[in-house]
Amino acid sequence: MQIVSSKFPLKRSRRLRSNSWIRELISENSLNVDDLIWPIFVREGINIREPILSLPGVQRLSVDNVLEEAKKAYDLGIKCIALFPCTPENLKNEQCDEAWNPDNLVNKATRKIKKILPNLGVMLDVALDPYNLLGHDGLVKNGKILNDETLDALEKQAIEHAKNGADILGPSDMMDGRIYRIREALEKNNFKNTLIMSYSAKFASSFYGPFRDAVKANGKLIGDKKTYQLDIANKNEAIREIALDIKEGADMILIKPGMPYLDICSTVKEKFKVPTFAYQVSGEYSMLMSAIQNNYLKKEDTILESILCFKRAGCDGIVSYFAPFIANFLNK
Ligand code: PBG
Repeated sequence: MQIVSSKFPLKRSRRLRSNSWIRELISENSLNVDDLIWPIFVREGINIREPILSLPGVQRLSVDNVLEEAKKAYDLGIKCIALFPCTPENLKNEQCDEAWNPDNLVNKATRKIKKILPNLGVMLDVALDPYNLLGHDGLVKNGKILNDETLDALEKQAIEHAKNGADILGPSDMMDGRIYRIREALEKNNFKNTLIMSYSAKFASSFYGPFRDAVKANGKLIGDKKTYQLDIANKNEAIREIALDIKEGADMILIKPGMPYLDICSTVKEKFKVPTFAYQVSGEYSMLMSAIQNNYLKKEDTILESILCFKRAGCDGIVSYFAPFIANFLNK
């Protein structure tokens, strides 16, 4: 299709930008509280809010405070929160048993949240890194990340999360075959409506650093995650991963990191037409916050722009540590 346009001065592009009402009338995308998923870090203890140095403004919360924040999120109109555990060191081991403990931090928090807020979506990560002495998403033997043995562990973790009330499972481990294994196990255990948002296109990125601080996995990690996460140079490979995950039973797909990977978001949405999400990850948040705290960037405008660009790229929703800030702003 050819884009038809007359010539200057018949055509003046600035006519459509001359006033706020006309700009708003023709605006192609907008942000809505419904678009946001808010990631929250859970720790042990009672009434604790522990700042995370590399994530200014984000805290590790004890379960009682997670509940408080969940209520606030719900009142703000946020539809879904994602919980990540900061597992006590003495509960981490090489088999990652804590991942399927019904009383682990995220299972406990999910039970409590669902009891008082049945209409707030709760998403839980399926991956072993918060429980692994070695910081990897899979089981490790002789320095190798085991695929098929990890699937057995992920299946146990996924079913336990579903049992405790998780609405969405977010496999973020990047093992081969995990979506099919988890979907099959959910069906077998009669969890017919448990959703899977697959971290299908998860790149081996440097932008996850502050998250690894938050869950205290940073010091542990030996080597990198390049044998399972995607090569940052590859777009076709990302598309193939997403196609596989849709076939294996994913309901929604997630691209991660966000802003440096908008090309992936845009192509994926055009190609597959499935609910598509992006994760504006910890490093992106920290970058923006550092500049904002130094007054190099204007807080409100920059944050809103950083989120709206995901909508323009085709995303249906965004996982962001800025979620409550944005919700507060939109509700004003
Ligand atoms: C772990 C996981 C990571 C993130 C979400 N789930 C880190 C990693 O893969 O090392 C990163 C999120 C963020 O950086 O905000 N499976």
